[in-house]
Amino acid sequence: MRTPQRVPAGGLPDEVTIYEVGPRDGLQNESAIVDVKVKAEFIRRLVEAGLRTVETTSFVHPKWVPQLADATELLAQLDLPDDVRAPVLVPNERGLDRALAAGVREIAIFASATETFAAKNLNSTVDEQFAMFTPTVQRALAEGLSVRGYVSMCYGDPWEGDVPIEQVVKVGARLVDLGCHELSLGDTIGVATPGHVTALISAFTAAGVPIDKLAVHFHDTYGQALANTLTAFREGVTTVDSSAGGLGGCPYAESATGNLATEDLLWQLNGLGIKTGVDLPKLVETSVWMAEQLGKPSPSRVVQALAG
Ligand code: HMG
Ligand code: MG
Repeated sequence: MRTPQRVPAGGLPDEVTIYEVGPRDGLQNESAIVDVKVKAEFIRRLVEAGLRTVETTSFVHPKWVPQLADATELLAQLDLPDDVRAPVLVPNERGLDRALAAGVREIAIFASATETFAAKNLNSTVDEQFAMFTPTVQRALAEGLSVRGYVSMCYGDPWEGDVPIEQVVKVGARLVDLGCHELSLGDTIGVATPGHVTALISAFTAAGVPIDKLAVHFHDTYGQALANTLTAFREGVTTVDSSAGGLGGCPYAESATGNLATEDLLWQLNGLGIKTGVDLPKLVETSVWMAEQLGKPSPSRVVQALAG
């Protein structure tokens, strides 16, 4: 399989952590409900390709996201190596109960920076979401779990338009104060551009959130995800969310499309000589296999180029 010529560039990390969201962010947005055995095989293959952090599913209300209603069953089918982190989304205490019963050790809560998306995605206001998260995170930490926090609509909202940077930082800083060990800045509808990325990351560090707590999460709606990710690396971020094959979106934000494809990211990182521990040909094989299961081609440019 073709590989990029390795030519490192300055001002970039030696190594980055890929936080794979395909099984969760990808499959939550598929109109077809994927069989639980296929999901388990997908996760097994992602791990086999070298991914060491895989967000596997969500313990949200099964009526809100029927695609992931089989979360308990799925986790019971997984037999992951000890060095694999397998976080799940949890919105509230009911979700935490279910996650704990399934043996989960790591969760992610997900906040909205805007009122409209908080209403549509969590049936709450921006303030009310914290009333839901506070007892959830407190209990999770007391149980020894680690908690990631997402902020959605960081760069724009399909109903409200521009989102002020201070508004995003306020929500994100509250998540860190609650005890989240990491904050993933979500470009839910893929509208960010590099200057905006730099400005948001700088605003977070100026507000006292250390750079090593920040992760980036770009959807690729406007083809900006890779440029934005490279910008974040230059700012010192070393954890990036991506989705095998470019699967993804959010069922409560119509304009959200797939995440940055893990293969597109890997092509760039391999060319730059940045270590990830992930095997690109194996991942491409996995995404080709998954595309067959879903009955449609992968939107990833690198999968398309390498699969032929
Ligand atoms: P609600 O209807 O307001 O819930 O939904 P409620 O608290 O009023 O409870 C109603 C009933 O639901 C109760 O049952 C609860 O027990 C039950 P009853 O007493 O009536 O029999 N219930 C649950 N059952 C199972 N699991 C649960 C659960 N919670 C309540 N966890 C709620 C509020 C938060 C639950 C709902 O809005 C929800 O599930 N939302 C999730 C939406 C979602 O998953 N969106 C996609 C993920 S976010 C995303 O993709 C963005 C991201 O990728 C970053 C980015 O791109 O920006 C992370
Ligand atoms: Mg997302």
